[in-house]
Amino acid sequence: MKVVTLIPGDGIGPEITEAVKKIFAAANVPVTWEEENAGQTTFDSKGELIPQSLIDSLEKTRVGLKGPITTPVGKGFKSINVQLRQKFDLYQNVRPACTTPGIDTKFEGVDLVLFRENTEGLYSGLETYDARLGIADSIARVTVEGCEKITRAAFAYAKKHGRKKVTVVHKANILKMAGTLILEAGKKAHAEFPEIEMDDKIIDNMCMQLVVKPQQFDVVVTTNLFGDILSDLCAGLVGGLGVVSGANIGDDMAIFEAVHGSAPDIAGKGLANPTAMLRSAIMMLHHIDLHDHASKITNALNKTLLNKEQCTGDLGGKAKTMEFADYIIGNL
Ligand code: NAI
Ligand code: MG
Repeated sequence: MKVVTLIPGDGIGPEITEAVKKIFAAANVPVTWEEENAGQTTFDSKGELIPQSLIDSLEKTRVGLKGPITTPVGKGFKSINVQLRQKFDLYQNVRPACTTPGIDTKFEGVDLVLFRENTEGLYSGLETYDARLGIADSIARVTVEGCEKITRAAFAYAKKHGRKKVTVVHKANILKMAGTLILEAGKKAHAEFPEIEMDDKIIDNMCMQLVVKPQQFDVVVTTNLFGDILSDLCAGLVGGLGVVSGANIGDDMAIFEAVHGSAPDIAGKGLANPTAMLRSAIMMLHHIDLHDHASKITNALNKTLLNKEQCTGDLGGKAKTMEFADYIIGNL
């Protein structure tokens, strides 16, 4: 039995977590969960936003599955997600976006994987506000090392998974300093993997290209903020936030989580689509080499997606979160 740290999170987090747990149990996945939460709920009960018991669990298991955690807008605590990624140097945020039969989309044949640098850039936390002068600074600190690690990871992934091209996305024309390092790092990584094609796009053009002809992209790598925005855009291309998975990966730890947030607008109503969380959990199964279990659950999910009635409302269906999970279980 492999022990995995489970962080249910806020909003729809506990609902989609329950669905995943039920599906894993039905599929006899040899995983036991060590449940630890973080965020406002644990602050209210334990006085800590990220309890030491969660840190201890992750340091022991080295693998986590995490639901979304609410981050207050403006004043308030710093994002728990960002803190966990920085604390454990989970520098790769890997977000596949692929069209799936049964899910209605404007495009067919989209199959790309976005690599987002996950620990630096505009999310470095270097922010000041001088109220007297009315000036705010948010510093986009990127490092040569950080850019080299993420671009190298993207090329290595492309090679391992038989992909052909890596597109480096940047704003090096305007941001002469912090916007240039990722492009330079991309060229360096490309030299190491010459069999993989490389091109680059400026972020604004990239957004336009993605909504016109997304099939032209294969592996995409970019800095933190651009990657955050592009990943939601890519989710929209393939069925929305309810269906796309994600992983935060470091050299010796990984935390898997959906791209979406805590969705307060639908929380507690049984309306959330558990697919994104389930697909993140499937990525986790591949990470811990439980490939057969991953395939079994993927097949059951894909079969269920073909029957719209059995899906949640965001996919045009009528099923509640747990009903959808039960249909998946029926297809195992
Ligand atoms: P959101 O992703 O929570 O919701 C955006 C829209 O997508 C909403 O209309 C929501 O109902 C829908 N949606 C999201 N997930 C869905 C699902 N599984 N099934 C069906 N519909 C779904 O983004 P929003 O509203 O900007 O953020 C809400 C909170 O989540 C904020 O506090 C934000 O900081 C946090 N957040 C946390 C993340 C994480 O923990 N990794 C990631 C993104 C946001
Ligand atoms: Mg985001």
